[in-house]
Amino acid sequence: MSILLTGGAGYIGSHTAIELLENNDLVVIDDFSNSKPEVLDAIKEITNKEVKFYEGDYSDKGFLEKVFNENEIDAVINFAGFKAVGESVKEPLKYYDNNIGGCIHLLEVMQKHNVKKFIFSSSATVYGKPDVVPITEESKVGGTTNPYGTTKLFIERILEDLYKSDNTWDICILRYFNPVGSHPSGLIGEDPNGIPNNLMPYIVRVAAGQLEQLTVFGNDYNTHDGTGVRDYIHVVDLAKGHVKALEKLNKEDSGLFIYNLGTGTGYSVLDMINAFEKATNKKVNYVIGPRREGDIDECYSDPTKANNELNWKAELTIEDMCRDSWNYIEKKNSK
Ligand code: WQD
Repeated sequence: MSILLTGGAGYIGSHTAIELLENNDLVVIDDFSNSKPEVLDAIKEITNKEVKFYEGDYSDKGFLEKVFNENEIDAVINFAGFKAVGESVKEPLKYYDNNIGGCIHLLEVMQKHNVKKFIFSSSATVYGKPDVVPITEESKVGGTTNPYGTTKLFIERILEDLYKSDNTWDICILRYFNPVGSHPSGLIGEDPNGIPNNLMPYIVRVAAGQLEQLTVFGNDYNTHDGTGVRDYIHVVDLAKGHVKALEKLNKEDSGLFIYNLGTGTGYSVLDMINAFEKATNKKVNYVIGPRREGDIDECYSDPTKANNELNWKAELTIEDMCRDSWNYIEKKNSK
């Protein structure tokens, strides 16, 4: 039996593949729209194991049929999807078609092949601007501030309706907070195309001299130092959360489970800059600029439910996240 990872060559997918390969055979599909083929070589080098790879569009039902006909799939983890907040505002139809339409096609092919264990890569963005922090899974969802976040919200609703229609499905929704960092080997990590939207890849490029300075988007938020507070989680901890989620689905005959994957600790932008400089001994030049539209003051998790029900807890520190992010880019730039 195999686990199918859609978008498995991507940032979260590749780190999860490494953790899953210890005890599972994997089938990975990716169209390299936001990833690179050499990631597959890195996975092999790190684990000394091969994944069965298919290049293609996860939303193409004919392509999916081929994958399901050629493999005994036991469970599916859906990482595939566009994820740039700013781009989603400019091109909503592209996001709704690919993220929602693609996921529906995937679920339809799964249903046809009677494969009903499904883990969905969701996001804390479904909480919108939280009334209260820390955020629990019972916190209100909705009020998403961009189409990317809305695709996550809509897919969660689709999964709830699917489970109501057929309770033999076994579904786990994982709400990621802010994934950062890279595998300690430095062979895989986060390196978005073009100018990074997210904080950590931007900081890394400034430290490497590839970008002049970081603009801190506002210092007048209702937080301890006025800059935005987020729950940054090391991508390896996040990947291990998926292993535990799969174990949960293998233990349960069926169900629909929702978990926050976060550390439970919020750090501000200035906290992150200071942690990065301390961990890497590199300077991060920055200026304070205006707020970025759609940003919220604070967002951090209460991970108690995942700690208890998945027997999972984030262990890596903000310094680990900074050190591993820098290590990856140093290795990449030295090639
Ligand atoms: C973090 C903090 C910014 C860049 C989004 C999505 C989430 C997930 C991660 C996809 C904020 C500040 C950032 C910069 C800055 N999605 N910042 N200068 O917006 O919390 O979450 O990305 O993977 O679902 O919603 O992450 O890293 O963009 O911002 O000051 O150049 O850093 O204002 O406070 P965000 P982020």
